[in-house]
Amino acid sequence: MRQEAPVVRLYDPTLRQPVWVVTRYKDAVELARDPRFTKDVKKLPEDSPHRQMRSADMEAISRHMLSADPPDHTRLRSLVSKAFTPRRVEELRPRIAAIASQLLDTAKDPGSMDLLDAFAFPLPITVIAELLGVPVEDRDQFRDWTTTIISPPSEGNLEPLREAGRQFIQYFQQLLARRRADPRDDLLTALMSAEEQGDRLSPLELMSMLFLLLVAGHETTVNLIGNGVWALLNHSEQLERLRANPALIESAVEEMLRYCGPVETTTQRWAAQDAEFHGQVIPRGETILASLLSADHDPEQFPEPERFDITREPNRHIAFGFGIHFCLGAPLARLEATIAINLLLERLPRLRFGVDPSELRWRDGILVRGLQRLPVAF
Ligand code: HEM
Repeated sequence: MRQEAPVVRLYDPTLRQPVWVVTRYKDAVELARDPRFTKDVKKLPEDSPHRQMRSADMEAISRHMLSADPPDHTRLRSLVSKAFTPRRVEELRPRIAAIASQLLDTAKDPGSMDLLDAFAFPLPITVIAELLGVPVEDRDQFRDWTTTIISPPSEGNLEPLREAGRQFIQYFQQLLARRRADPRDDLLTALMSAEEQGDRLSPLELMSMLFLLLVAGHETTVNLIGNGVWALLNHSEQLERLRANPALIESAVEEMLRYCGPVETTTQRWAAQDAEFHGQVIPRGETILASLLSADHDPEQFPEPERFDITREPNRHIAFGFGIHFCLGAPLARLEATIAINLLLERLPRLRFGVDPSELRWRDGILVRGLQRLPVAF
């Protein structure tokens, strides 16, 4: 597709919609910067199926920065951007290391585990729950809801997704009421006070922000750790290099993001007007997205793109997207992955696949790239 049909109209069988897919690196970067493609569903015609899908009860989790254009996007993002700068995130290092270490203590005994369930999942969800001020004990509950919400709907049936959305909203309404009576030093309390000032954050925007941070904060980093370990175990010479020199971890994580990043495609954008893009006319209202993994394997940008090289330089991948919606959580995800993977290698010197790698299965859907399970032995 990169060579012959770099902007191609496909059919998404789960959404039952046509979707334009951009596969070249340069075009993906250009798409992210192009204001003719909107994230705001309200700019589409009234009868657009994308507007219809956004039922009234889903509004409360849909009014977040990733579905907004400026100026709303700018306002929403600025409310939380300070909490996610590399400097602020670096302050979390000792706590992240302690959580990771504790998880390994618990998981270590039998000599085998599903790396995703026992380690890669609980780490980021615990970190984001603590940062927000959400009870960590409820993390399995969030996992169920968010997995349902981001999974491709089976046979186009959106009801399970809506039900999970409703439960999420109910849970947070109760939590917000409790926190109002008992404010704390956490992101939840800070966002609530922005909401109380009215002009900065509406009640729907507050709920949607919490939803976005929780979902974005745990379906992604889990799979960066999982996919990264999968890549290392598949490339023993790279694994040995990293074991011999743990300081390579930062560049190793960049290569994991490029080679097997956890977000396969961007979220949807829509043509706000008929728009020509690299020789194709995208009609008003139709969906367009970029395949980030294809862009990050584009030989025009990365020499020998199929080679996994933990010292690759330069490595300007777009696994975190590009432009104004560039991932807010990138510094946090990077820090969590570097700590988690180095700790695994240090504590488990005999780490290896627990099943034949050919038995591993990837999850369905085009948004998240991740394994269903990752059994390991050590
Ligand atoms: C390895 C882990 C992660 C990857 C690969 C990733 C990837 C991405 C990508 C590709 C986008 C842009 C989507 C688009 O333009 O359509 C994005 C946006 C976003 N991410 Fe992440 N993400 C990760 C982790 C996180 C974490 C840990 C958080 C936070 C807690 C987070 C919060 C966000 C937010 C809030 C946005 C929307 C930003 C905006 O609209 O301005 N992400 N992420």
